[in-house]
Amino acid sequence: MKDRLIIFDTTLRDGEQSPGASMTQDEKVRIARALERLKVDVIEAGFPVASPGDFEAVKAVAEAVTESTVCGLARALDKDIDRAAEALKPARRARIHTFIATSPIHMAKKLKMTPDQVVEEAIHAVRRARRYTDDVEFSAEDAVRSEVDFLCRVFEAAIDAGARTINVPDTVGYSIPSVWFERIHTLISRVPNADKVVWSTHCHNDLGMAVANSLAAVQAGVRQVECTINGLGERAGNASLEEIVMAVKTRRDVFGVTCDIDTTQIVPTSKLVATITGYPVQPNKAIVGANAFAHESGIHQDGVLKHRETYEIMRAEDVGWNANRMVLGKHSGRNAFRARLTDLGIEFKREEDLNEAFMRFKELADKKHDIYDEDLQALVTETNLAAMHERVKLISLKVQSETGETPKADITLSVDGGEREGAATGGGPVDATFRAIESIVHSGCNLQLFSVNNITTGTDAQGEVTVRLDKGGRIANGQGADTDILVASAKAYINALNKLSVTTERAHPQVADHI
Ligand code: KIV
Ligand code: ZN
Repeated sequence: MKDRLIIFDTTLRDGEQSPGASMTQDEKVRIARALERLKVDVIEAGFPVASPGDFEAVKAVAEAVTESTVCGLARALDKDIDRAAEALKPARRARIHTFIATSPIHMAKKLKMTPDQVVEEAIHAVRRARRYTDDVEFSAEDAVRSEVDFLCRVFEAAIDAGARTINVPDTVGYSIPSVWFERIHTLISRVPNADKVVWSTHCHNDLGMAVANSLAAVQAGVRQVECTINGLGERAGNASLEEIVMAVKTRRDVFGVTCDIDTTQIVPTSKLVATITGYPVQPNKAIVGANAFAHESGIHQDGVLKHRETYEIMRAEDVGWNANRMVLGKHSGRNAFRARLTDLGIEFKREEDLNEAFMRFKELADKKHDIYDEDLQALVTETNLAAMHERVKLISLKVQSETGETPKADITLSVDGGEREGAATGGGPVDATFRAIESIVHSGCNLQLFSVNNITTGTDAQGEVTVRLDKGGRIANGQGADTDILVASAKAYINALNKLSVTTERAHPQVADHI
């Protein structure tokens, strides 16, 4: 269909390449289910050859997802393609996405290959992937800095070899909209059999133009856009799904395309991804930022009250703000709790985990009157973390803080099953808390980021804290939620420590393995 835009989400693959944003298998399945509710066409679930954990996660997503196509990334290497095919076996609809770099700098310096060799490898990779599935996508990595004649040659060869989707990435976020329009237009006009495939683009945000470039590509004829929730991704991120979808919907007069996304699922999915990855959304971010629909100036408020469209081009409820309001409270029973989790696509494999989550829910309901979906998501994240057999656990925390006095924290942790006590003073209560933890664990980590968000509104809302720790170049984001933000901070710090103790080496897709 000429006017249908395919939405290809790569939050679980390129999004996971953000420093410290790695997700557990269960978290990936939760996000995949949310993406399916959002009705994305293709979910790129990961890079199966990267590690056994990545392989299992892609397989688990392939098992869980029934409506969207599940895609696995593979360099133009037999071992990558075979591994991707194996992980995707359970998928109802499977796509293999294979790629090779085509720019002079990547071919010479990274791959150490001649252009002729690159064309041969591309043909071989597409043919090999076609042995497993008809749905094969081919990408020319660093297309933005590739010579256009060479790109035409590679793409023609990939189409002849059986690729169904041809993806043109701006891998390094270098392009600008008018140039990207020209490039895509030239390729679609010049490559033989261009009309037999779906053209796609994949833009990074290094110059802040990923969304603008993707939209220019749509105007030039691409009918698939690769994007991520909240614009998460390598370095400055990828094009943001919510911005692209709302741009084409709101300006259909300009773009003339439709997509099947259920926009009311945008905000819940954004919140889920932010909670799981520990990458909070900036308040002024388009569509999903807390202030995206808040009118501050008196003139604007007056206008909106008189007639909403004076200052609003979209409706907050259409993108899912206030979509899932208050659901449960102190008197809600286990069945209501389980039913709401099922609505949110959350399933516990073990009955004990559901019981544990229900117990945490009851504890929270004692402190907080209204429990919202966002609280439930945070609570499930915590329950899953507890099930990860964490080495370090918080038992209790006491913090003294008074005007004019040095704050002091006393903490009790369980470390590898044994109870340990620590105490420290600090510049502020959070600093004292982190120092008290370090007085026990001596991790030698550097604190790179500390941020607090409220999960919902109101003074009894839970504070959600994100902590990013760096240990010798390995980075982990930890999260913690509690109505007491010092407890949330301690939980987040401990969570990051636990993640650092289990992270293992993984291959990166854009590191050459061809030599
Ligand atoms: O940015 C990029 O070029 C990629 C490819 C693997 C498509 O992520
Ligand atoms: Zn990318």
